[in-house]
Parts: sequence; structure tokens; C-alpha cells
Amino acid sequence: MRSIFQKNRLIALLAIGGLCGFGAQAAGTAAAGKVKAAVCAACHGLDGRSQMPEAPHLAGQVEGYLVEQLRAFKSGERHNEQMAIIAKPLSAQDIDDLAAWYASLAPTNAAGAKP
Ligand code: HEC
Repeated sequence: MRSIFQKNRLIALLAIGGLCGFGAQAAGTAAAGKVKAAVCAACHGLDGRSQMPEAPHLAGQVEGYLVEQLRAFKSGERHNEQMAIIAKPLSAQDIDDLAAWYASLAPTNAAGAKP
């Protein structure tokens, strides 16, 4: 009984270690980004299709571009009042995860975009 428990615990630790290693090594993970994107949905839509005329669609955007833009909003290099407030508290990991999430979504186009 005890040895089975220890074995399972070891597997769990290895799995967690593997996930952390992956997250730190590669950029972000879409699953983590999905959770963090709840705050973005009001303007950019639940599925990355914008709900506001002035907010761009994010679904299917290139991951590296999204990372660059979020970093630029955070640093103030790119100016936008709303995005400055949103981007300020984001960590580098948050930015990578959010970019991975939006990049993983099916892209939108003029014909498919919701009004
Ligand atoms: C209050 C509304 C609002 C919220 C909430 C919001 N955004 Fe934005 N976002 C905007 C607007 C407006 C723009 C357009 C900025 C501009 O014109 O430069 C924008 C632009 C962006 C861009 C640049 C897209 C491009 O095509 O250049 C990215 C990336 C982005 N937002 C990501 C996010 C993420 C990630 C979140 C959540 C953490 C978020 N936004 C939350 C309003 C919002």
C-alpha cells in the first residue's frame, strides 16, 4: 500500500516537474493562458473575437507578435490607456501564456468576425 502511494507521488512530482520545466523553457502554455484571459474577454471576447470596435481580434494572431505587443504596452513603448492598465501587472510568464492561448485559437477574418 505504502509503496504504491510513494510510487504515485513520485509520478505526480515528475509530472509537475515536467510541466514546470516545459513552461520555463518554451514560451507559454495555452491552458494557463486561457485561465488568465478571463480578464481580457470583456474587450477581446471569450474566443479572442473582439466585442468592442476599438479592440482588435486576438484569435489566431502570431504568438511572437502578441508577446511583443504586451511587452510594449507594459513598458509604455506602445501607448493605449486601457492596455497600459491591463498589461502593467502581467508577469513575463503571464504574457507568454496569454500569447500562447490567443495564438492557439482559430483565426478570425472579415467574413467570420462577429459584429
Ligand atoms: C478595457 C478593454 C480591454 C481589456 C480588458 C483588454 N484589452 Fe487588449 N486592447 C484593448 C484595446 C482598446 C486595444 C487597441 C489598442 C490600440 O489601439 O493600440 C487592445 C490591444 C491589445 C493587443 C494588441 C493587438 C494588436 O493587434 O496589436 C493585445 C495583444 C491585447 N490587447 C491583449 C490583451 C490581453 C492579453 C488582455 C487581458 C490580459 C487584454 N488585452 C485586455 C482593450 C482591452
